Amino acid sequence: MRLKDKVALITGAGGGIGEAIAIMFAGQGAKIGVQDINEEGAAKVVAAIADAGGEAIAVIGDVTDKAACEQMVKAVVDKFGKLNVLVNNAGINKDSMVKKMSEEKWDMVIDVNLKGTFLMCQAALGPMSEAGGGKIVNTASIGVLGNMGQANYSASKAGVIGLTKTLSLEFARPKISVNCVAPGATETQMTAGIPEDIKKGISSKIPMRRFAAPAEIASAHLFFASDDSSYVTGQVLFVDGGISVGL
Ligand SMILES: NC(=O)c1ccc[n+]([C@@H]2O[C@H](COP(=O)([O-])OP(=O)(O)OC[C@H]3O[C@@H](n4cnc5c(N)ncnc54)[C@H](O)[C@@H]3O)[C@@H](O)[C@H]2O)c1
Repeated sequence: MRLKDKVALITGAGGGIGEAIAIMFAGQGAKIGVQDINEEGAAKVVAAIADAGGEAIAVIGDVTDKAACEQMVKAVVDKFGKLNVLVNNAGINKDSMVKKMSEEKWDMVIDVNLKGTFLMCQAALGPMSEAGGGKIVNTASIGVLGNMGQANYSASKAGVIGLTKTLSLEFARPKISVNCVAPGATETQMTAGIPEDIKKGISSKIPMRRFAAPAEIASAHLFFASDDSSYVTGQVLFVDGGISVGL
């Protein structure tokens, strides 16, 4: 049990990679705040954790709303008495070539992926400090290396890496480590709409020749959330089947 007696809040945990993180962390003994804007998704994950003998609550709200972020952190602390781990996983993409990209698409992606991460880290600082320290795991993407049609997404995720590195410095004294997982292409709702022939083309460029399963990404979050990474902060781990190597 690598997270025995820990309390973890995971954003965007109503599906995809966040769901896999929530279920994996619960299996390692953590009590989970299943955060999402999608009530139905969050309820399904809470039920799955309870069915497996774990403890979880749904924490519904929008990570772009500062008051909501503070409220959601408070809800977890009120229920479980403390907060040890925050995983900022909620994310969206609204792809478009820059020539045609609307200001709205730019703002939405930067708001959820980057500002949402900032607001949740800010909201968690007090309770984590009171708990004597903690672990924050942010989520970037292979997209930080640049991807056609994803200027907003790529910029938001590069911002998450800069934020992670600065927070690792600012939060080291209160004993909060801040690290970042950068997934490659992963089988979730986010990639479900990619046509099969395009998926095959993407897979052919990945050294391991396939997309990741969500649990393969969640394993990296578990490393950063557990004491296995006790002397690690400010780091970015690419979990991408090797595609970032040699580019
Ligand atoms: N799937 C991939 O190939 C891939 C690759 C690299 C990085 N990522 C990143 O991993 C993370 C998880 O992605 P996924 O593939 O599981 O996506 P997903 O779409 O399956 O899940 C994202 C979750 O975030 C929630 N969410 C969206 N906006 C929110 C908001 N404003 N407030 C709270 N919750 C919100 C959604 O309801 C959803 O449950 C994201 O940050 C994504 O950018 C995914």
